[in-house]
Amino acid sequence: MLVADDEENQRAGLAKMVQSWGFAVETASDGQEALEKLNQSPAHVLVTDLMMPRMDGFELMKRLGAQGALPPTIMLTAFGNIETALQATLDLGAFWFLEKPIQPSVLKVLLERAAAQGRRAQETERLQRQLLYQGVLDELVGNCPAMQQVFSMIRQVAPSKAAVLITGESGTGKELVARAIHHLSSRRDGPFVAINCAALPETLMESELFGHEKGAFTGAVERRAGCFELAQNGTLLLDELAEMPVGTQAKLLRVLEDSHVRRLGGKGEIEVDVRVLASTNKVVEEALSKGELREDLYYRLNVFQIQLPPLRQREGDVAQLTKALIEALNKKHEARVVDINPDVLQQFKQYSWPGNVRELRNVLERAVILAGEGVITAHHLPRDFGVPAGSRPQLQEAEPDTVRLPVGTTVGEAEKALIQLTLQHTKNNKTRAAEILGISLKTLFNKLKEYGAAEAEAGTGT
Ligand SMILES: Nc1ncnc2c1ncn2[C@@H]1O[C@H](COP(=O)(O)OP(=O)(O)OP(=O)(O)O)[C@@H](O)[C@H]1O
Ligand SMILES: [Mg+2]
Repeated sequence: MLVADDEENQRAGLAKMVQSWGFAVETASDGQEALEKLNQSPAHVLVTDLMMPRMDGFELMKRLGAQGALPPTIMLTAFGNIETALQATLDLGAFWFLEKPIQPSVLKVLLERAAAQGRRAQETERLQRQLLYQGVLDELVGNCPAMQQVFSMIRQVAPSKAAVLITGESGTGKELVARAIHHLSSRRDGPFVAINCAALPETLMESELFGHEKGAFTGAVERRAGCFELAQNGTLLLDELAEMPVGTQAKLLRVLEDSHVRRLGGKGEIEVDVRVLASTNKVVEEALSKGELREDLYYRLNVFQIQLPPLRQREGDVAQLTKALIEALNKKHEARVVDINPDVLQQFKQYSWPGNVRELRNVLERAVILAGEGVITAHHLPRDFGVPAGSRPQLQEAEPDTVRLPVGTTVGEAEKALIQLTLQHTKNNKTRAAEILGISLKTLFNKLKEYGAAEAEAGTGT
């Protein structure tokens, strides 16, 4: 541990006492010296006085925090400085504060707890470095040079409060990148809030973002906090930013500039401390030239840009992703799949994955469920895997009054085929069909309504 105190007697006495409890101790006579020593060799615990020449305890903690190198810290304060000490504990994340004169028994307990926390943090750091070496960062997997570059960007920008624009095709992992940035920042204990900017009309979008007071617009029956307030002291992801109504983009920019929000229909302003990340699967230049994305907002959010490569360009990653996803899906579905057949893996490597990692995950999820255990083979892939959508065959009936169900048919598809065949058989007598199927008439109606809606939707091309 490191003891920083400008009074020599205090410092020496403290060091001696702590040493007698079995801690290895370094000392510093002010914040500046402490910073230098900690930069050379990190400590599990920092015990620092508040008032010191050159650099005080407050500034020391701020600097260490900005470097992402703040160990659990116990702040010592003279009698009557409780308020400042409390502020350090809350704002800067100090572990605890102690009023002088120090009670040794209290200090001892605190030190042991702080040291345990410091050791845990260092161990986590070490494991993270080791995982990174194996191509894992937070929940992201990837060993190809392009993904390694993405990982190094994430690690560099995470500790700062800088805005980051994450771009990439659908399913490339933009949301996972945003979560990784949050987890690797000092805001990790704060909330992570994601808001999808697509498909919300302007008023609702603004109410989601900024909140509203009761009666602010038709339908605003109760006051509600917006995403900025919900993400206080945490991270806010503006997902699909280029889909946000342009009018809302202007208001958003104002909030980003001065860190205050006003609820719709509200009078007062609320100060917010939120780190903002944004993502889009559009080509940014196009969105800008079409006027879908405001240029000033783009420049405000594009402090850093992380571009995720499509899966087809991640040479060598498909095998590692497959392995990691099978492991995760085994857990999710309580399955015991051990591997994937080499031919299937080869097929995966050659496929272009237009839906990127999400598509790979979906294909594997289905395969893990179908296989349950052992090795995934071609039988566990969708029948038309790799076949372009237009040329896919329809579910065929082999003989009258029979449905053929090849492996790869979903339960939903099977159910629909069976219901339709039964209705044909009863000449559309629904009561009779429900009896044969062993379901209630109501359930049958609900199912038919579902199919009707799905067909109507497919018909409009959405
Ligand atoms: N590098 C990766 N390692 C492991 N899993 C990944 C990786 N990238 C994506 N995934 C998984 O793929 C799926 C899609 O990821 P995510 O939602 O982050 O994509 P997205 O880029 O935000 O997609 P969209 O643009 O459609 O919103 C998730 O299930 C995620 O866990
Ligand atoms: Mg997304």
